[in-house]
Amino acid sequence: MAAKICVIGTGYVGLIAAVGLSDFGNIVVGVDLDEKKINMLKQGKSPIYEPGVEDYLNRNLESGRLSFTTAIDQAVQDSQVIFIAVGTPEKENEEADLSYVQAVVNTIAKNLIDYKVIVTKSTVPVGTNRWIKELLEKETGGNNFDVVSNPEFLREGRATQDFFHPDRTVLGCESEKAKEIMFNVYRTLNVTSVPFVWCSLETAELIKYASNAFLATKITFINEIANLSEAVGADIHLVAKSMGMDGRISPKFLHPGPGYGGSCFPKDTKAIASFGRKFGVKMNLIESVIATNEIQKKRMVDKIKKLAGTLEGKTIAILGLAFKQQTDDIRESSAITIVNEIIKDGGTVQAHDPKAMDNFSKLFPDIMYCHTAYDAVKNADAIMILTEWNEYRGLDLEKIKSNMNGNILLDTRNLLDPDVVKDAGFIYEGVGRK
Ligand SMILES: NC(=O)c1ccc[n+]([C@@H]2O[C@H](COP(=O)([O-])OP(=O)(O)OC[C@H]3O[C@@H](n4cnc5c(N)ncnc54)[C@H](O)[C@@H]3O)[C@@H](O)[C@H]2O)c1
Repeated sequence: MAAKICVIGTGYVGLIAAVGLSDFGNIVVGVDLDEKKINMLKQGKSPIYEPGVEDYLNRNLESGRLSFTTAIDQAVQDSQVIFIAVGTPEKENEEADLSYVQAVVNTIAKNLIDYKVIVTKSTVPVGTNRWIKELLEKETGGNNFDVVSNPEFLREGRATQDFFHPDRTVLGCESEKAKEIMFNVYRTLNVTSVPFVWCSLETAELIKYASNAFLATKITFINEIANLSEAVGADIHLVAKSMGMDGRISPKFLHPGPGYGGSCFPKDTKAIASFGRKFGVKMNLIESVIATNEIQKKRMVDKIKKLAGTLEGKTIAILGLAFKQQTDDIRESSAITIVNEIIKDGGTVQAHDPKAMDNFSKLFPDIMYCHTAYDAVKNADAIMILTEWNEYRGLDLEKIKSNMNGNILLDTRNLLDPDVVKDAGFIYEGVGRK
């Protein structure tokens, strides 16, 4: 039977959850405070760039199973299952900011007119779901609800695919009634044999942070080995490839680069270190990962300075602003640190990104944004490739070279073949390979 669901927050996670859950056959209303976003969604337009999402959005709007509103009270009252998918950004003290979650919980409390299941999809520190339960009990003076922790593991750029084919679905759930309801919500995944992990609220919360911290560690590890490769004259690609052939290691997340970014790894590693301290457990490894990742971003600036002699008066073409390919998300992108440092050192930036320039221009309104990579390199002294967009793999190097002042190319994603680039007359440097 179709469940009546309300998804609060229609950002990168909430939008995918709303379209995905309605595609499963549920009746879903997506809610956001942001009227502009909701108006776009009602018209079948996605406010974010995510491959495939508009097809699912329109298909489910047309079926009548999916709708959007800013009227949160009504949406909560009309639904049996409420997904919380609002942001949990980093606070100044590096803890997760739970104020958006708290505001939503207060609204749910006001509208808890019958039994509901409150599902937390936002990434929240261990103890948050128990706190939500206590808050709702206190506000409503009863317990006509259940709280479920259902962390999200999707990757931006492959979010729809990840939603429909997750490696696992984690459900921190401590009531049989809620378990039955959640099983029904996700019945399609059960049909396709996706493993369900039923566990306590705390276990579900920690699974999410441990997973992100591990992936961030893996990236940081290979970046450190890449730096050593450079020093000893080894080839990081063969090192990583051969490491990945070991089934215990796996080849995924072994690509060296300019340091991890995005809306999750940076804030989630800091949050786990922070609540670790709160529980009296110092997360030495994770704290070291956080610090090492910052050094990796700065290392890219040191590399370009060394190649260019100085950045003062130099024009640097930046290819790629998003924190990774196939997204317009620039949160904690390495490009932010790197562009900041170039400007601080007296350089000028000409930037290109296929999807993220609008978002980047809100942070850096004064740099030059170019329609194509070829426009961005015009009269530049050096190029830095920062995001692994496929279109940068196939650049016409001769055309690029003839448009530039200089001939330096720093490929922080190792997208290009060093020999081919050198043959085209460039001074080339990647990460972890000579
Ligand atoms: N982005 C990812 O790749 C990803 C992956 C897994 C988990 N997560 C987690 O999911 C959560 C959401 O992340 P996101 O990237 O989708 O954030 P986001 O900033 O893109 O979206 C959050 C949305 O919530 C809305 N919102 C805030 N307060 C609201 C309220 N009171 N009522 C209604 N709407 C409200 C905002 O307007 C915004 O549209 C975070 O906890 C994040 O850590 C994100």
